[in-house]
Amino acid sequence: MANVTIIYGSSTGATENIARKLAEAFDGSSVMDAAQLNEAAVASFKDADLVLFGGSTWGYGDLQDDWHAKMGLFEGADFAGVKVGVFGTGDQESYPDTFVDTIGILAEAAEKAGATIVGKTSQDGYTFDESRAARDGELLGLAIDEENQGDMTDDRVAAWVSQLSSEI
Ligand SMILES: Cc1cc2nc3c(=O)[nH]c(=O)nc-3n(C[C@H](O)[C@H](O)[C@H](O)COP(=O)(O)O)c2cc1C
Repeated sequence: MANVTIIYGSSTGATENIARKLAEAFDGSSVMDAAQLNEAAVASFKDADLVLFGGSTWGYGDLQDDWHAKMGLFEGADFAGVKVGVFGTGDQESYPDTFVDTIGILAEAAEKAGATIVGKTSQDGYTFDESRAARDGELLGLAIDEENQGDMTDDRVAAWVSQLSSEI
């Protein structure tokens, strides 16, 4: 069984709920609130087969608060050889110019620290104008929209889990 570490930042529970679904799917994984991240936890990513970062987007394309306070931990961290997948929740109808930007912000930070991003997904099925999570016609991770497409969440999570399982 793969050693999967899941870290999420969530203000109203939506991203936490996705983190729990992912933890259930990756039996034996560990789940941590981003508020608890510290240098030791970041150093332990090296031992994981897969690290999943999750966060919602607030304000206008801003990181969820708990992540905001922890981004300094990425600076100088060595993620070489670490596979990272990113997931996030957002609202494509109300925020079509900043839809799930946090996915992009977290993926960029992990890449900068040397991580390999896995679990990129198709933009099919979403309607938005701009997103920091979009690159080369793909999304840099799993985008969940509970406000407008909550009925698709479980299928999207399941598809992502099987994709990730084949990428690690
Ligand atoms: C004030 C406010 C600002 C928001 N800004 C964005 C945004 O810029 N982009 C986006 O995709 N979603 C945005 N959202 C939607 C939230 O990201 C969404 O409700 C998310 O599921 C909350 O997840 P959480 O409970 O894990 O924090 C915003 C919601 C609120 C209430």
